Amino acid sequence: MKLRTHRCGELNKQHVGQTVVLNGWVQRRRDHGMVMFIDLRDRTGITQVVFNAERNAAVHQAAHTLRSECVVSVTGQVMARPDESKNPNLPTGDVEIFVDAVEILNEARTPPFLIEDDAEVTEAVRLKYRYLDLRRPMMQRLLSLRHGIMQTARGFLNAEQFLEVETPILTKSTPEGARDYLVPSRVNPGQFFALPQSPQLFKQVLMVGGVDRYYQIARCFRDEDLRNDRQPEFTQIDLEMSFVGREQVMSLMERMIVAIFREAGGVQLPTPFPRMTYAEAMGRYGSDKPDLRFEMPLYDVTAFAAKSEFKVFNDAAAKGGIVKAMIVKGGGTLARSRIDALGETAKSFGAKGLAWLKITAEGQLESVIAKFLDAKAFAAALPEAAPGDLVLFGADKPAIVHDVLGRIRLILGEEFNLIDKKAWKPVWVTEFPLLDYSLEEKRYVFMHNPFAAPMDEDLAMLDREPLKVRAKAYDMVLNGNEIGGGSIRNHRSEVQLRILDLLGISKDQAQAKFGFLLDALDYGAPPHGGIAFGLDRLIMLLGGADSIRDVIAFPKTQRAQCPLTDAPSAVGAEQLKELRIKLDLIE
Ligand code: AMO
Ligand code: AMP
Repeated sequence: MKLRTHRCGELNKQHVGQTVVLNGWVQRRRDHGMVMFIDLRDRTGITQVVFNAERNAAVHQAAHTLRSECVVSVTGQVMARPDESKNPNLPTGDVEIFVDAVEILNEARTPPFLIEDDAEVTEAVRLKYRYLDLRRPMMQRLLSLRHGIMQTARGFLNAEQFLEVETPILTKSTPEGARDYLVPSRVNPGQFFALPQSPQLFKQVLMVGGVDRYYQIARCFRDEDLRNDRQPEFTQIDLEMSFVGREQVMSLMERMIVAIFREAGGVQLPTPFPRMTYAEAMGRYGSDKPDLRFEMPLYDVTAFAAKSEFKVFNDAAAKGGIVKAMIVKGGGTLARSRIDALGETAKSFGAKGLAWLKITAEGQLESVIAKFLDAKAFAAALPEAAPGDLVLFGADKPAIVHDVLGRIRLILGEEFNLIDKKAWKPVWVTEFPLLDYSLEEKRYVFMHNPFAAPMDEDLAMLDREPLKVRAKAYDMVLNGNEIGGGSIRNHRSEVQLRILDLLGISKDQAQAKFGFLLDALDYGAPPHGGIAFGLDRLIMLLGGADSIRDVIAFPKTQRAQCPLTDAPSAVGAEQLKELRIKLDLIE
C-alpha cells in the first residue's frame, strides 16, 4: 500500500504541481465519459480526484470499479482547478488531483445510507451501522469537539494542581437517587457489585486521603428513564477540592467552563456568570434550571387573586397556595383553540387548569373569568400587562404553579420565537433546599445528594424545620440545561448522621451502605466540596447537537439498548450457572 503524503482536507493552491498520495474513502463518483471524478474523503475533509482517459487510460479504466465507500490509495499531481470549476464551499476547492496510479485497498458493500450530514436515515439504522454514521462530517466534528473539551478540561485542571485519579467501576451502590446497574460476583455467589452512579463517595474519601484536589473524566451509570439529554452510561468531568468553600469552587469552575468554551469551541461566555438562588429561580422562572435567553417571568398576583370573585383563585389563596401570572406579550392574537390546548398541556403537567385573559386594545379584560375580576384592581396588580397581551394564570400549591408555568413558559418561548438561539446564558443556581418532602413516600428525600452540607446559618433549623434548611449546593445552568452540580460536603460525621437520620437512613443502615465514608470522616476529614459537569451535555450544547446520543461514539437507544452490538442480550446457561444465578422472570 502506498502511504499517504497528505490528508484529504489539506491540499490547496500552494501544493499545485506536487505529486501526492492520498488514502481515503470514495464519497461518490461522477462519470463524464473520458473524465471520471471521485470525491475522496478522510477525517479531515474531501479532495476532488480526476481520472482522465487521455492522461492515463489504464487508471481511467480502473476507476470504473470504484464504488461508494471503497477504500483507495491514489497517487497523482495537484492541479489548479479552472476558475469556473472552483468550489468555494470546500477548503480544497481550488485544486484537484490528476491520478497516475490507483490502488484499491478494500471494497465496500453498498452502505444503507449516504455518508452525508443531511442523509435521510433513522436513528436505529445510524446506530446499527455506527461505523458508517461516524464517517459523516458532523459526527467527526462532534467527536473532535469532545476530544477538545476533554483536553482543555485536563489542561486547565492540571495547571490548577489537580491530580487525575481513577475510581472503581465495580463498586458498591452510591446513593445518587437513580437505580443501580448490578454486576454479579462469581467468586462471591449471591453478591453483587453496583456500577457507580458517580464517583461521589470515592472522591470524598480521596480528600480524607490527603489528595487535596482530584479530578476524573468519569463514567457514570444510572438505570433511569431516558430522554434526549440522558443516557444510562454517561461521562462527568468530576472533581473535588479540600479546604475550600462555595466561592472557591464556583469561581474556579466558572473559569474552567469559560476556558473550555473559548479553547474548544471558540465561544466567549459572558462573565461573571449571574447567580440566582433556587427560590428566585423557581419564583421568577418556574424552574431550577432557568433558560435566560428570554425573559417572560412569572408574577405573584396572590394578593389580587385572594380578593377576586373567581373561586379557583380565592380558594387557592385561602388554602395557602399561590396564584401566579405570566404575560405573553402580543399573545392576544392567540386563537381560542390554541389557548384551550395549552390548558390541556397544563393539565398533563399536573395543573387543574390554566386560567387566561386577554387585554383588549381598549384595556378591557376579555375572558370567561372576566366577570369575576375587577379590571382596575388587575391593572394595579399587574401593571406590566398591556393591551394586546395574553395573561395566563396558575393557582395551586407553589410547587405545581411554578412547575406548570415554568414548562408552559418554555413552550411559548419557542412558539413566539422569543429564544435567542445564538445567545449563551449561563447562570449559577445556589441555595438549594437540603431536603424535599416526598408525598408519595411520605418522607424527606435529598435534593442533590445526601452528602451536601447545610448552610451554617440554617443548621439550627435542621431539627425543627428541616424543609427550610438550605444546602451549600450549586448548579451551573446554561441555556436552560443543568450542565453541572455540586456542593460543599459534610466533613463531620455528626452532621452527616443527623441528615441521614432525617432521610430515614438509620445509623445501622448508613453503616452498612457507606460506613467506609462515615468512618473516614472520623479520621480527620478536611472541609471539602466539589462538582461534576455532564460532559455529554456540554458537548451537545457547544456542538449544537439535538441529542446527547450524537456526541457519544457508541450510545444506547431510548430503550437502553445498543443496536450495534445488540447489548443487552441473553447469556448461556453455563455462564449463569457459574454465577449461581437462576432466572425466574416475573411478569
Ligand atoms: P449530578 O447527579 O447532579 O451530581 O450529576 C452531575 C451532572 O451530570 C449530568 N448528568 C447526566 N448526563 C447525562 N445522562 C444522565 N443520565 C445524567 N445524569 C446527570 C448533568 C449533571 O449536572 N456526585 C454529584 C456531583 C457532586 O456533587 O460533585 C453528581 O453526580 O449535567
Ligand atoms: P372552571 O371554573 O373550572 O370552569 O375554570 C375556569 C378557568 O379557570 C378555566 O380556564 C380553567 O382552565 C381555569 N382553572 C381552573 N383551575 C385552575 C387552577 N388551579 N389554576 C389556574 N387556572 C385554573
